[in-house]
Amino acid sequence: MARIPDAFIDDLLARSDIVEIIGARVPLKRQGKEYSARCPFHDERSPSFTVSPTKQFYHCFGCGAHGTAISFLINYDRLEFLDAVEELAKRIGMEVPRDTQQRNANPDSHDLFNAVDAAAKFFRKQLAASAKAQAYLDGRDVSDAIREQFSIGYAPDGFNALRDALGTDPRRMSLLERAGLFSKNERGHVYDKFRDRVMFPIHDRRGRVIAFGGRVLEKDDSPKYLNSPETPLFHKGRELYGLWQVRQAHNKIERLIVVEGYMDVVALFQHGVDTAVATLGTATTPDHAELLFRNAPDVFFCFDGDRAGRSAAWKAVESVLPRMKDGRQAFFLFLPDGEDPDSLVRTEGRDGFDARLRAATPLSQFFFDSLGVDVNLSTLEGKGRLAERAKPFLAQIPDGAFGDLMKQRLTELTGVGARASAADPQASAARAPRLNTQAPKRSLVRAAIELLLHQPSLALSLPRPHRFPTLNQAGVELLAEIIDLVESRPDITTGAVIEHFADRDESKALQKLAASSFIGDEQTLGHSFLGTMYQLELQAVEQRNSELGAKLRELGPSGIDGHERAEVTQLLTEARSLRAMISKYAAPM
Ligand code: UTP
Ligand code: MN
Repeated sequence: MARIPDAFIDDLLARSDIVEIIGARVPLKRQGKEYSARCPFHDERSPSFTVSPTKQFYHCFGCGAHGTAISFLINYDRLEFLDAVEELAKRIGMEVPRDTQQRNANPDSHDLFNAVDAAAKFFRKQLAASAKAQAYLDGRDVSDAIREQFSIGYAPDGFNALRDALGTDPRRMSLLERAGLFSKNERGHVYDKFRDRVMFPIHDRRGRVIAFGGRVLEKDDSPKYLNSPETPLFHKGRELYGLWQVRQAHNKIERLIVVEGYMDVVALFQHGVDTAVATLGTATTPDHAELLFRNAPDVFFCFDGDRAGRSAAWKAVESVLPRMKDGRQAFFLFLPDGEDPDSLVRTEGRDGFDARLRAATPLSQFFFDSLGVDVNLSTLEGKGRLAERAKPFLAQIPDGAFGDLMKQRLTELTGVGARASAADPQASAARAPRLNTQAPKRSLVRAAIELLLHQPSLALSLPRPHRFPTLNQAGVELLAEIIDLVESRPDITTGAVIEHFADRDESKALQKLAASSFIGDEQTLGHSFLGTMYQLELQAVEQRNSELGAKLRELGPSGIDGHERAEVTQLLTEARSLRAMISKYAAPM
């Protein structure tokens, strides 16, 4: 470990204010001469963590964590000792003495940082010199300000550009190699790893470049993105692309949006959604989850709506559950086919993207929907299976209200874990609007039918024409049929609807849906129905939009005619107003 004179550390601690440093990260409450909080190092309900301004010391009576401002930064911000010292010194304008001893003690990372930084600067210069790379970024509509903010660069073609520029002696060669910037062939020949790629530097929590992602310019070259390998500075499971920029842009981050790609982060920033970060081509790790929640109370995960996206989302659930302390919230946003945040924010703008975030699926809902996906909850066997699956996950949620509510929800769904007392009616009422928010596609239709069966006249509140019948989803025809039926017989009762379908295959399912109970007033019911229907309508709009998009991609601009072009515009307008309706009817969760 680096040697810094003890006298300096003493002075540094005497001049720093531990209350201010911890208070900026954990809400502290004054109690007499000291401050208290719920301990950030273990999960607890009542505060046993105290901070003493006179002693410049923190201590937790629960888990025994204790220390100075430096140890707090090491444990909470996960800084290295030297970095924690520098962080404190910077705050109060002290210069950390850098003697030769210290350099020798920690020559490695210091020099590695410098080598990577030099490479980043080199790539930036190359971008300024490359018309081709600039044209690529122009083509993707990346503004100059964003190029600057994200220090985007270009690694030139050829095998030795970086090597010739920076690998001027064996020591530098070895540093660049350890920084992951070179490749080696079988004969041991060393050459540039990144060639003819747009370079996205990855910054650490203190703004230092630690690695790169490089994108090809030509669409058919592969791999599309090349990332730095793991190095002493870079562990991809622990870093989030864009977090440095987010932290620069905000004192307090209300929410973080997690996306997959470099370009997603960059495009979101450019369109004013400046709290986006990306995992670097990996699943969301527990380290990521921790880092996310240390920076913001609300985290939105964006995934593709397909199978792969859903399974990636489930990985995120597994990483997030053990970190769901009270006050933290996680949401899941599933993107329409063929879209990513980059394309969406360009077509829909910040407002459109915000509306999607507002309609995102809460963790609790995604959790039970995913586990219950192939479970028949009307049988005891199904309930047993869901309970069995859910329990090990629920056990990982830290003590607190959220964990209690999740267990309660499992009890509501399965009866498992119920105590003798009757279910809390308020909790049931709070649950009722659940159908309102974006459920996985397969259940929306079912939810709409269920609501209609509770009050058939709801069908009359839905404006024509309907788009949802074009959706390729189970039950869509039945839903359309029920709506038609009610429109032709406006006073029809639930019983009569069931009667109407008596000798059809769907009869049993309809009876079951009609028998389920809905707790909530008439207005809630109406809002749930409209919210659900508008989501289906939106899906139909998106389906049509991606059909046209696919056609355009396949045939080029001449492949779609004027009508279709007008239709695209019309679809976007419709989507916008549907989204507005959805957020209007989505009950606050
Ligand atoms: P995508 O293939 O979805 O690309 O990869 P993208 O982000 O939409 O990229 P553009 O818009 O075509 O430029 C998503 C992310 O997965 C990682 C990268 O982090 C990328 O941003 N990835 C992808 C790789 O690491 N390697 C690859 O070959 C492809
Ligand atoms: Mn993309």
